[in-house]
Amino acid sequence: MAKAVALIAASALCVLALASLAQCHNEVFTVEGKVYCDTCRVLFETKVSEYIAGADVKLQCRSREDDSVTVTMTGKTNKDGYYRLSVSGDHENEICEVTAVSSPNPDCNETVPEIRTARVALSDNSGILSTVRYCNPIGFVKKESLSSCIEVLDDMGFVPQV
Ligand SMILES: *[C@@H]1O[C@H](CO)[C@@H](O)[C@H](O)[C@H]1NC(C)=O
Repeated sequence: MAKAVALIAASALCVLALASLAQCHNEVFTVEGKVYCDTCRVLFETKVSEYIAGADVKLQCRSREDDSVTVTMTGKTNKDGYYRLSVSGDHENEICEVTAVSSPNPDCNETVPEIRTARVALSDNSGILSTVRYCNPIGFVKKESLSSCIEVLDDMGFVPQV
């Protein structure tokens, strides 16, 4: 009797394990992040950075082996400067990146490679349990930096360069 129960339990576990294996390949990742305007032209976020609504972003994955494009997807930021994209499938042997493509703000539409893209891991084997993947902020650089930036950067511990 005990044996029979153990057997049933073992086979139930097996079925569960198989089911979760199969699920891996139907995975849907939610990729989220923000697009900001670097109002200090320093290539990182400060407390006076602004968030850009209606910016176009693109997510692209490329194969590590032959560099072929496996996923291309576009999105737009909401009023708070957030974008969210759903990507299905596991992309373990690929390099996935989100790029800030264009900004509707004519005063803040300059692209620079340093803050234009962010990498994102879209695989179960990346050590992240959640299927929601947060990207580093990406953005554009403002034409002229705000006058308050000197103080802001000073507060952050940056020594002004003369
Ligand atoms: C930024 O916006 C200005 C004004 O609309 C436009 O002339 C310029 O071409 C834009 N620059 C980029 C890089 O899109």
